Amino acid sequence: MPETLPKADPRRIARFLREVGEIGADPRGGWSRLAFGPEEREAHAVFERWVTDLGLTSSTDAIGNTLGELAGNTPGSALLVGSHLDTVPRGGGFDGVAGVAAALEVARLLIESGGLNRTYRAVVFSGEEGARFGAPCIGSRIATGAFTTDTLSTLTDREGCSVLERAAEVGLRPTNAAEAVWSQGSVSAFLELHIEQGRVLEARGRTLGVVDAIAGSTRVELAFSGNADHSGATPMLLRHDALVGASELVVEAERRASSHRTAVATVGDLEVVPGSFTTVPGEARLSLDVRDVDSERQRELAEELLDGAGRIAARRGLELSAVLVSDQSPVVLHKPVREQLARAAHERDVPFCVLPSGATHDTAHVAKAAPAGMVFVPSRQGVSHAPDEWSSVEDIARGVEVMAAALRALDEQEGP
Ligand code: GLV
Ligand code: MN
Ligand code: MN
Repeated sequence: MPETLPKADPRRIARFLREVGEIGADPRGGWSRLAFGPEEREAHAVFERWVTDLGLTSSTDAIGNTLGELAGNTPGSALLVGSHLDTVPRGGGFDGVAGVAAALEVARLLIESGGLNRTYRAVVFSGEEGARFGAPCIGSRIATGAFTTDTLSTLTDREGCSVLERAAEVGLRPTNAAEAVWSQGSVSAFLELHIEQGRVLEARGRTLGVVDAIAGSTRVELAFSGNADHSGATPMLLRHDALVGASELVVEAERRASSHRTAVATVGDLEVVPGSFTTVPGEARLSLDVRDVDSERQRELAEELLDGAGRIAARRGLELSAVLVSDQSPVVLHKPVREQLARAAHERDVPFCVLPSGATHDTAHVAKAAPAGMVFVPSRQGVSHAPDEWSSVEDIARGVEVMAAALRALDEQEGP
């Protein structure tokens, strides 16, 4: 029934992107609205204003997920669309924000076409990016029961402060996180629009991607410890340089991941202690993120790299410590939801293809609690997690129309 839904308005989408883009602009370029920081909360407040203007009822749960609700006629489970508004340090203006703009525009299309039978909720999850605490998707993992208040106390940022402390600092109630857990069967389906963050859609000339699977990710914090010695007075042969050990691992991660077809491995953070021109590095702390759509290969590669780190440390007379921060399996998204999205795209003549996601998303966690689906819009030159990230609001508008039509179809289906 394509004719029953109005067209999405790219200008409204652009306006939301602009308003959120006024928050957290980093003087060094890009945006820094870190998980559980004040800028993330400010962006959620913009979303609240938008949902209220649309006539939806807004609420924020104990861990800072913000929801806008359009009540349906049928009691029972709701249909949800959402994404996130936090960013990595110096990230781009579309990751997460595009999906929230889409959830708002879907709400408008539904309102203008008489709503759904079920309740519709636009949702912004808190703390999606793993950049600050290592573990991503904190809000959605609380909502779906995978994380608890106890988990929040174990996840810490670079300053050693936990999510529990940081969330309380910005006025949330993380010790009451149990209140934010969705009740069993309360969500009948969840959809997320996201920028692709890769080059497949652009290369194939498609407007939309229907995601079939989301890669898993194993994240480990490693520290090589050696001796901090005088850089002039210590002969090369007598050194136990922690950074040289860490560097070997960085190269080994690249070499081993490159030999697999779909695996990727990244050392994205490296801290050298004491960090001085004239001191041999005594300690090197680094993050290791191993991802694959194949869970066995993901874990095998992570283990091979940890073994490799152990060998490097032993050979160089260094100590090694390793802490597993997050270990998430790949997730295959629900076929019936994928089919509705593909059908809606096909009926609207929107060129699309089916593809996996190398990045992780809240959808991967929601999929464990409810049928979930995801659409991608093209990313210019595949750039993401960087200031030059860009996608077209016209493509996002097409995605909105496809999601609204798929929601309509899901709304008509029998079930909880
Ligand atoms: C989220 O952006 C991720 O790290 O995949
Ligand atoms: Mn994202
Ligand atoms: Mn991201």
